Amino acid sequence: LVFLDPSLRTRASLESACARLGAHAIVLRPGGDTWALETREGVVMDGAAAEHAKEAVPVLASYADVLAVRTFAGLKDREEDRADRVLSTFRGLSPIPLLNLESARWHPLQGLADQATWIRRLGRPRGRRLVLTWAPHPRTLPQAVPNQVLLSAAGQGMDVVLAHPEGFDLEPDVVERCSALAASRGGGLTVTHDPERRFDGADVVYAKNWSGSPFYGRREEEAALRASLGAWQVRSVPERAGFMHCLPVRRNVVVADAVLDGPSSWVQEQAAFRLWTVMAVLEDQLGGASWPSA
Ligand code: CP
Repeated sequence: LVFLDPSLRTRASLESACARLGAHAIVLRPGGDTWALETREGVVMDGAAAEHAKEAVPVLASYADVLAVRTFAGLKDREEDRADRVLSTFRGLSPIPLLNLESARWHPLQGLADQATWIRRLGRPRGRRLVLTWAPHPRTLPQAVPNQVLLSAAGQGMDVVLAHPEGFDLEPDVVERCSALAASRGGGLTVTHDPERRFDGADVVYAKNWSGSPFYGRREEEAALRASLGAWQVRSVPERAGFMHCLPVRRNVVVADAVLDGPSSWVQEQAAFRLWTVMAVLEDQLGGASWPSA
């Protein structure tokens, strides 16, 4: 488990899952408890990185049955993030299965836990309204989680509402792909920029902050705009709706205490599903390959 970025849930759920399944987790934090890694092609390595992924990934693969990497978007180069360059580099170098622990574009393990939560709470998610809403945050954050929520909800055929201020668009190709997928599964996808009406008819309110695609390379402009978007904080949700967030969450910035601490909050159950869903993934990846035959 190679963590190029921090984690609480992903790391702890994987370590717990490995222990429960009789697997052993090796957790590495390059630049923290092991060598800082270079992942770019053809660079002169006279900076902080002491080792290149070209050596490190095959070495790790020779010790393990599955590799996994967390690598967030750099939020500096839009095309590099769109290409999911670091994840792609690991994937290209690894001769064994590679799990995505959240990359520049996607967070599939979170997506599985989210879907498990919808199924448990809603029965059949198809046709139920999920509102994915942008919410304030003091920092500039990636789009991996909102992309994943859209993809997961579309795949479940939900009636997806994507709510965000003008300018905080997700990548158009992601929205178009998810819109087509939702329609093909009996759902749909609509976009609103109205913070007052965004939760109309919602069964699920899913809050997350993300940076706007149009702001790549123009961070100062985005920061100035953020200061005026306090109305997007989630202060209440409709009575019948559940509130979700992937966590970690900043209280009273993204969402009010009253929502997180109230009966509408599904966040603890959502996080708990990270364990059971990643156990299923590990069983799928390791169960046939590494367990002794009867
Ligand atoms: N939701 C999630 O991935 O949490 P962590 O960043 O703590 O792993």
